[in-house]
Amino acid sequence: MYAGLIPFIGVKKMSDLLKLGVLISGNGSNMQSIIDHIENGSLKAVIKIVISNNPEAYGISRAKKHNIPFIVLKSNDFKNKEDFDVKLIKSLKDNGVELVILAGFMRIISPTFLKAFPQKILNIHPALLPSFPGLHGQRQAVEYGVKVSGCTVHFVDEGVDTGPIIIQSAVPVLDDDTEETLAARILKEEHKIYPRAIQLFADGKLSVKGRKVFIKN
Ligand code: GAR
Repeated sequence: MYAGLIPFIGVKKMSDLLKLGVLISGNGSNMQSIIDHIENGSLKAVIKIVISNNPEAYGISRAKKHNIPFIVLKSNDFKNKEDFDVKLIKSLKDNGVELVILAGFMRIISPTFLKAFPQKILNIHPALLPSFPGLHGQRQAVEYGVKVSGCTVHFVDEGVDTGPIIIQSAVPVLDDDTEETLAARILKEEHKIYPRAIQLFADGKLSVKGRKVFIKN
């Protein structure tokens, strides 16, 4: 929980490049969008390390293509979740990471990890939270019959997709939508709002009070 007003989190000087660590498990299209925004100058950040828990993740090829250092941490190579997290934290710290970006990273974040990066882990979720948290947010929306869904960028807290919300974007759910067609529509919005949320953090424009995120100006 967030007890009091945490004054403007982020990097102090606008000119600083915020050092990101990006965690992926699969396709990595959100990571690609972050790379594209960095390369076209609209996101003042640098990806110091990409970490995948899946050796087959297509996102690894994307990192390679852009000469971004990456490592693979397989759950099976660790005795337990704690050991995995110790290695994850060390890899991020060794690379000077200031903000951790969960980009389709399909693991629950442990309290140890949260403590190592307090208010410095962001996640994107393919639904308008608090609706449809957890897995398959798009399928849940189609099955429930909502008329509007979307995506959410939020700070990560100890719950599953429960942290304070930074940005949301809505899309219509059409009568003939399948999980796949809705996911594609939502993904386009994800690619816009995630870089925007990261830039707000980089500019020191975010503050959190209780459940609410305030955006300066
Ligand atoms: C995205 O739709 C992201 O919102 C979702 O996984 C996909 C990853 O796509 N994340 C979650 O469902 C987390 N609960 P990507 O690998 O192409 O960025």
